[in-house]
Amino acid sequence: MNVNEGAGGVAAAGGDPGVRGWLRDAFARRPGWMNALMLFCAFMAFVYVPWDFAGKPLAVDEEVWFGVRLHGGWAKATEPIHLVIYACGAYGFWHMRPWLWPWAAIYAGQVAISMLVWPLLYADEVGGSARALLVGLVSFAAFSALTAALWRAKDRFRAGRPRLRDRYGAWALVTGASSGIGAAFARSLAQEGVSVALCARREDRLRALASELERHGVETRVVALDLAAPGSVSRLVTAVADLDLGIVVNNAGVGDAGRFEHQDAARLRAMVELNCITPMLLTRALLSRLHARGRGAVLFTGSQAARQPLPLHAVYAATKAFDGFLGEALWAELRGTGIDVLVVEPGSTETECQQVAGELPHAGQAPEEVVAVAWDRLGRQPSVATRWWHWLRGNAVMRLLPRSLLVLLAMGVMRKQTPIERR
Ligand SMILES: NC(=O)c1ccc[n+]([C@@H]2O[C@H](COP(=O)([O-])OP(=O)(O)OC[C@H]3O[C@@H](n4cnc5c(N)ncnc54)[C@H](OP(=O)(O)O)[C@@H]3O)[C@@H](O)[C@H]2O)c1
Repeated sequence: MNVNEGAGGVAAAGGDPGVRGWLRDAFARRPGWMNALMLFCAFMAFVYVPWDFAGKPLAVDEEVWFGVRLHGGWAKATEPIHLVIYACGAYGFWHMRPWLWPWAAIYAGQVAISMLVWPLLYADEVGGSARALLVGLVSFAAFSALTAALWRAKDRFRAGRPRLRDRYGAWALVTGASSGIGAAFARSLAQEGVSVALCARREDRLRALASELERHGVETRVVALDLAAPGSVSRLVTAVADLDLGIVVNNAGVGDAGRFEHQDAARLRAMVELNCITPMLLTRALLSRLHARGRGAVLFTGSQAARQPLPLHAVYAATKAFDGFLGEALWAELRGTGIDVLVVEPGSTETECQQVAGELPHAGQAPEEVVAVAWDRLGRQPSVATRWWHWLRGNAVMRLLPRSLLVLLAMGVMRKQTPIERR
């Protein structure tokens, strides 16, 4: 693979950055017959099956499973299963997810057998047994060919992404590397042979992490800075000026739980500086260097908090919305330049963040999981939710609910995570 391409074959430098280019790249990931299958799955999942389920009278509803026809209530009851299968198919083909193999082939094989059984069971309607056998065999042959093609396509679903060092270069900068998601980013980069510049305030933590990373045979540089302080971005840019940076991870961030009017104004200002101004200025300062190399990656650690206003975390959610909008817009601006941009949007993650923000402890995912999703999706899309139900909540439920209800529901959730004295 050309190192100017993202893992998903994203446009090489100089490619068409518009919608046409995006579509071309998206469909170039698989052969034509598989694109057709993906579109068929999408049509079934989002148009036909919902229409069938909601619009067709019960009396005339009919579904075929393993060649056997189901009618009325039985047919209706099994339609959601069809919907889930086709939706998984559309999603799986779109992202070429590894789990689609061997399930797509097994499902197509089951359809092939159904297509043989179906006309034989209902031979009278097809025009007699001889004709039913012929129809069954022809359909069986067609679906068997599809089954074989899906079976043989194993490598397409298993194609791993190139190593980060091969894809983007020798050095990365990670802000907020002294704990949590930033430390996990740094560890995963070192495991893939990328040397890392580590930035945060706690120098002792950064030095300990640097020694750990160097065991992977990479170099490190520790830059201890308060990134909410004036002039800190320039100092950081100067501190890494001699490094061949290929990856910039804008990760440092803090929250502050509580009712807005009780929050400390200086702390809120520092949060906006750290969460918004710093990643904006740092990215702007380093972009010309990535452009000069013709390849690179810029990541922003956003949050699910960006997907709706969060009472009792009002300013934090607003800062994360800023990061999300900034990163997604840059993704579009930089498409075709060889620079990939991704906003990774975790939900609750088990780091020091909750404690620093003054929240009540609550369960979350591991930072390593967040990082794995980010590397997997980088170069393929502008932003990513780190769990599928976060995606569903952020992109379906929250967009459909009236804003009043949405914000009040969020208030209910945040109350449970906020100590009484801060509510
Ligand atoms: N944990 C979650 O539930 C969650 C969910 C969604 C998004 N996020 C986002 O994930 C990112 C990483 O947070 P985390 O969960 O890994 O929390 P964390 O463990 O508290 O890490 C925050 C990092 O930011 C650094 N930092 C804080 N203030 C700084 C400052 N003024 N200057 C420089 N560095 C500073 C901290 O280092 P020092 O204290 O040493 O400076 C630390 O390395 C944040 O942007 C956060 O908003 C977290």
